[in-house]
Amino acid sequence: MIPTPHIETKNKDEIAKTVLMPGDPLRAKFIADTFLEDVKQFNSVRNVLGYTGTYKGRRISVMASGMGMPSIGIYSYELYKFYDVENIIRIGSCGGYTPDAKLYDVILAKDAWSESSYAKVQGGYESDIIEGTEALNESLIKHANELEIPISVERIHSSDVFYRENFEQYKEIHEKYGCVAVEMEAFALFHNAKVLGKNAACLLTVSDNLATHEVTTSEERQNAFTNMMKIALEMAE
Ligand code: HPA
Repeated sequence: MIPTPHIETKNKDEIAKTVLMPGDPLRAKFIADTFLEDVKQFNSVRNVLGYTGTYKGRRISVMASGMGMPSIGIYSYELYKFYDVENIIRIGSCGGYTPDAKLYDVILAKDAWSESSYAKVQGGYESDIIEGTEALNESLIKHANELEIPISVERIHSSDVFYRENFEQYKEIHEKYGCVAVEMEAFALFHNAKVLGKNAACLLTVSDNLATHEVTTSEERQNAFTNMMKIALEMAE
């Protein structure tokens, strides 16, 4: 069933077994332009740019997920199910829920808590917590250690809503469920991996903090995010 409605390549081999997924298409392009060699673009449908190339001689792909669970839900499903992708590593930004989550810290999401209906609607999954794949997490931690980039392994919140009327609600989510930061995609990605028998992980860089109100500029982010990208790129095969 390829091409799919959202990915245009007719050749499965144009996509590597491991795909890095930033939310932003221009960040996918930045990664391809900055870090990859022998790059070939395999998708531009809706400007959701996808590229395959080599990193240190090993093959890897990078494609955007867009923002939110419905969006990453579509792209990750098509990559896993129809393009035989085995590993998807989300590389995104998150908002810290505690002062301990400092700007630019790198967090590995061991699991995601969510009030989203995504997993229940998609596959009848009843729990509100889904884990990432342990083997991928172990590899990512090893690569982070080798690169001497500090990384913390945490529970995160995957939210359907960026602008909540009750801003203070984050405190309750932090206290009740132990989530240290918020983003908007991991829960759906982890679910799709689980139902399709594939692997998923989520690396995040803290871009803002709800407790301290610190924010990064888009320029600062570009540079700081390279730490997370370098860890993930080591997963090239
Ligand atoms: N909320 C949701 N997603 C995010 C945030 C946030 O504050 N920061 C970065 N991704």
